Amino acid sequence: MLLHKNLFEGLDNVVHLSAGGETPMLHSHRGAFEQFMRDKGRGERARELIHEKMLETREHCGTLFGVDASDISFISSTSEGMNIVAYGLEWQPGDNVVIADVEFGSGVYPWTLLNNKGVEVKIVRHRDWQISISDIEAQIDSRTRLVVMSHVSMFTGQRIQLQTLANAVHRRGALLVLDATHSTGVVRVDASCADIVISSCYKWLLGTHGTAIFYWNRKTLPDLNAPFLGWASAATAGGWKDPLVLTQHQDALRFMPANPNYLGIYILNNALNNLLPLGIDNIEQHALSLTGQLRDGISNLDIEKLRLSIMTPDTPENRGGNICIMSDRVDEISAELRNRGVLVWGTYGGDSRLRISAHVYNDESDIDACLDALA
Ligand SMILES: Cc1ncc(COP(=O)(O)O)c(C=O)c1O
Repeated sequence: MLLHKNLFEGLDNVVHLSAGGETPMLHSHRGAFEQFMRDKGRGERARELIHEKMLETREHCGTLFGVDASDISFISSTSEGMNIVAYGLEWQPGDNVVIADVEFGSGVYPWTLLNNKGVEVKIVRHRDWQISISDIEAQIDSRTRLVVMSHVSMFTGQRIQLQTLANAVHRRGALLVLDATHSTGVVRVDASCADIVISSCYKWLLGTHGTAIFYWNRKTLPDLNAPFLGWASAATAGGWKDPLVLTQHQDALRFMPANPNYLGIYILNNALNNLLPLGIDNIEQHALSLTGQLRDGISNLDIEKLRLSIMTPDTPENRGGNICIMSDRVDEISAELRNRGVLVWGTYGGDSRLRISAHVYNDESDIDACLDALA
């Protein structure tokens, strides 16, 4: 394992294979919380300190994504990020957005709100649970503005080839909005391939809810407007003399109209201080090795008798930290595994899909325990 289990809350007596749903909290997050409490009580200096922590965390996110920190802002959720794009672009009747049928709701429902502007949502259907880049390309037409896709699918575990997808989307004159919630923190995300990258922080990034990362590729999408304005949107403001005058930030801070969730950012900062020194490529190798062991082990079980069917591709470059299994026995299996101290993600969501995830705190014995319990 890359980060010892005893660094985390609640891992003493369980096999935690649920990172795709919720990761456990690092004990050291208490230190981050206490730092926030100390900083917040320091009067005017408090604001400087917490703002500096936000800027430092932004630098870490820039490192993680391989982009300039000034193109990063902190928002509340992936859903909010998708809505920023939906309302920050100018639309014409007849424009369309292409999505896949296995996307999470954060990347689906915001586009339906554009119906009243005459914007259509086109859906790419999976084949045997896989989304193919050529099927995506086939859906793109001259009116396609955006392709919205998860880097790693929460539903099937498939990792789409980011550079190939981006090339296909850009070749056809559209923009790529990437939901990287299931890749950031566990596999490499070369964010600059895409035009927008959004990631929640409470899964693979070891952070918590209410803080998400929003990357804006200013070079490829310079005319994305900030759909919400507030006091923090202003780089300079007219004040009481000229109350309506403001100049917006030139960088991604323009998407933060007010104080962000600073406490969540302190926690994210601590999470990144733990993850970044490990090296994202090492984390990726570790997760792929464990999920490979898991996938092989499951395919060696009598999966027909168990009524399991593996959805996640075998090839390492086409998966991340999740192995997903379709079964009509999901509730029964996840309850039985839980009784044996093995935590997987099954019942929540109610879609007959079992998701088993491996992250930095897991090792081969966890996978063996899960396979034993499944058998
Ligand atoms: C692909 C994906 N994106 C985003 C989220 C979380 O979305 P939000 O930050 O809007 O709560 C999830 C949660 O399961 C997810 O699976």
